[in-house]
Amino acid sequence: MKKIPAAILGATGSVGQRFVQLLDQHPWFDVVCLTGSERTIGTRYGETCRWLLTDPMPEWAKDIVVSPTDPAKVDQPLVFSALPTDIAKTVEADFAAKGSMVCSNASAFRMADDVPILIPEANAEHAKLVEVQRSQRGWKGGIVTNSNCTSTGITVAFKAMLDAFGIDKAFVVSMQALSGAGFPGVPSMDVIDNLIPFIGGEEHKVQTEPLKMLGTINGNKIDFADFPISAHTNRVGITDGHTVCASLALKKKPSVAEAIEAIRSYQAPEICRDLPSTPRPVLLYRNEDNRPQPRMDRMTGKGMTTVVGRLREDPIFDVKMVICSHNTIRGAAGGSVYNAELLTKMGYLS
Ligand SMILES: NC(=O)c1ccc[n+]([C@@H]2O[C@H](COP(=O)([O-])OP(=O)(O)OC[C@H]3O[C@@H](n4cnc5c(N)ncnc54)[C@H](OP(=O)(O)O)[C@@H]3O)[C@@H](O)[C@H]2O)c1
Repeated sequence: MKKIPAAILGATGSVGQRFVQLLDQHPWFDVVCLTGSERTIGTRYGETCRWLLTDPMPEWAKDIVVSPTDPAKVDQPLVFSALPTDIAKTVEADFAAKGSMVCSNASAFRMADDVPILIPEANAEHAKLVEVQRSQRGWKGGIVTNSNCTSTGITVAFKAMLDAFGIDKAFVVSMQALSGAGFPGVPSMDVIDNLIPFIGGEEHKVQTEPLKMLGTINGNKIDFADFPISAHTNRVGITDGHTVCASLALKKKPSVAEAIEAIRSYQAPEICRDLPSTPRPVLLYRNEDNRPQPRMDRMTGKGMTTVVGRLREDPIFDVKMVICSHNTIRGAAGGSVYNAELLTKMGYLS
């Protein structure tokens, strides 16, 4: 198969760098363009990008000259976006109109009726909304988004519970890593020896995005899943990996063993079980009393697996559990790459 040429928009940032790392030697996609802001346009990526990852920067990326984030000058059929939301709002639509398939991390289009928040192991069929975008907006390409990084792990674990038992309501408390705020992110003096019980806009995203992802396609839009989520979101002094404590009231009342079995046996839809970025396994249940932990568990399945543990009875709800997911891999760049693979397999990209 001839590789599909790809661009990364916002390639110098926290998520953009993850794209560069994860797309190194990708079997289907070939990154030929990296874009940035006025700050970096025209400079060599190897000189201008403050590389934050422990793996070295791939050699091929070092000599790429950073391009403007301009659809008139970037014409790859596949575009990965790690742009700030305000920029994404206009730029991503222009790319989609011109014919690029945009796999975005930004929140700009997440709540549009005809744009899916795609998470292949939970809602692969939502990708069909790309056809609605093409017929209603006249776009030659399209946009699919990732969820906010905290919603990702929640949604995968909740999907297993929803399918097996139905969900009445959920209560979640997050402990979110610093890399979720981009670079340089939260000042060290604010977060060392401390935690911050507020992340702007985050609680609303965590209370709504999983419901769209867990919803069902109805004609040209998605009917959201019909249960409320109450969320507290907190920033903590961890580099990578978001952890969520979740309590769930369920329609059918399982035993703890049955609920654990539902997590263990959850299977992704057939179409996304064998893609290059497929999480293996989709969900891992850990038996230890003190797991999952972000430092120990975030790289499970190359950072793509959602790790669950401490599933037990909840005296107010029915069950409670701890969920851990890598925010810049599964919750951001890795999720987008997985989405692009699914779109390729479904024939929306060639
Ligand atoms: N971090 C996470 O865990 C995470 C998870 C899910 C989603 N997201 C979303 O992903 C996006 C990127 O987040 P991030 O954490 O990587 O942010 P970041 O580290 O602040 O990086 C922002 C990137 O956007 C570029 N940029 C800034 N202003 C621009 C402009 N006017 N025109 C073109 N490019 C511009 C920057 O380029 P220069 O370096 O050249 O200025 C940089 O490459 C955001 O929408 C965020 O909400 C992040």
